[in-house]
Amino acid sequence: MTAEFHIKSRTGGYPALLGPGLLDQAGAILAGRTIPLKAAVISDQTVAALYLERLSASLTNAGFEVHAIIVPPGEKSKSFARLEEVCRELLKNRLDKEDVVIALGGGMVGDLAGLAASLTRRGLRLVMAPTTLLAQADSSIGGKTAINTPEGKNLVGAIYAPMLVLADISTLATLPRRELSAGYAEVIKHAVLAGDEHFSYLEKSTDAFFAGDEKTLVETITRSIKVKAGIVECDEFERDRRLLLNLGHTFGHAFEAAAAYDETLLHGEAVAAGLCMAFEFASFDGHDVIRDFGRLRALLEKAGLPITLEGASIKAKGQDLLAFMRHDKKIRGGLIRLIVPRGFGDIYTKEITDPEILEQFFQALNI
Ligand SMILES: NC(=O)c1ccc[n+]([C@@H]2O[C@H](COP(=O)([O-])OP(=O)(O)OC[C@H]3O[C@@H](n4cnc5c(N)ncnc54)[C@H](O)[C@@H]3O)[C@@H](O)[C@H]2O)c1
Repeated sequence: MTAEFHIKSRTGGYPALLGPGLLDQAGAILAGRTIPLKAAVISDQTVAALYLERLSASLTNAGFEVHAIIVPPGEKSKSFARLEEVCRELLKNRLDKEDVVIALGGGMVGDLAGLAASLTRRGLRLVMAPTTLLAQADSSIGGKTAINTPEGKNLVGAIYAPMLVLADISTLATLPRRELSAGYAEVIKHAVLAGDEHFSYLEKSTDAFFAGDEKTLVETITRSIKVKAGIVECDEFERDRRLLLNLGHTFGHAFEAAAAYDETLLHGEAVAAGLCMAFEFASFDGHDVIRDFGRLRALLEKAGLPITLEGASIKAKGQDLLAFMRHDKKIRGGLIRLIVPRGFGDIYTKEITDPEILEQFFQALNI
């Protein structure tokens, strides 16, 4: 039950494969696309303990010489220090342009390993092997890589397309339920962008998805990849259309900043509450969103995601949120650009020239 897509990019594009058991086939799949020389697998300790042996065995059987570079799990590994360490390990292991770097893990590993691959020897070949829902349905597609600095999240990075994405859905079986739900927030965001038919599919399939039904996992993630790829292919370098993917994120990033990026609030949970606030804003901006907003809240709740600030344990006031929003990296020319849903598949961009509008909005919400 493997699905295959081709994602277009400036450098010619890359295939994405999605299905159960792909890690065991990784060596054979890669050997069919490149001469099996060296493969450096970059992973975090948690994922490596679960899946490194299987991936290494598959690569070794196909003739690759395997090197493993393991970093601690968590956002803290997306740092300059860790990036330097990874790049130097790649150099010490003498990886060159014919070799491959394999990012085995969630979005954190993908971002760190992707950036290291893009910088080392001015670009080593990169394979994404995502193991979280967020990474399979979202972050491994589109070529964005980044690390964090004290100035903010993901502010140092590159857009660097992989040669292949290998998403083994069997790995989702070991993902903690809270992480699965957090990834599902991005899946829901894609459905809000795509329209009613996509959203209705999620409403009908959520139970089967969380029960781990393979067919539903493949269909749900396939739909997400198609939405993301469709947008990224039109605007790889985020000049305009790619900003749509920021739906729920301008508020969400402010919530994450208010929670000081600690583990009390996962990115996907911030996105869930951010999606709700984007609908609240649409209502404040004069649109009738009652029906779709109600359906959104019901689906988020069913997936175990927060729909309010209290639900996400965020105590920040409107003024604090506004200050964080002004520092968001997506702000251009001093304007806060909100992506606002009038309904499913009906999205508009609102440029906030006067921050007072947001002050009034937060006041209307009593925050
Ligand atoms: N590049 C992009 O386009 C993009 C898009 C969205 C998010 N991101 C980035 O992605 C990161 C978040 O990614 P994430 O949510 O995947 O988090 P993550 O990579 O930190 O993984 C979450 C946790 O799950 C564990 N884990 C991963 N796979 C597992 C598995 N199969 N079984 C058990 N445990 C597993 C990890 O060790 C970690 O503790 C953030 O750094 C964010 O900035 C990047």
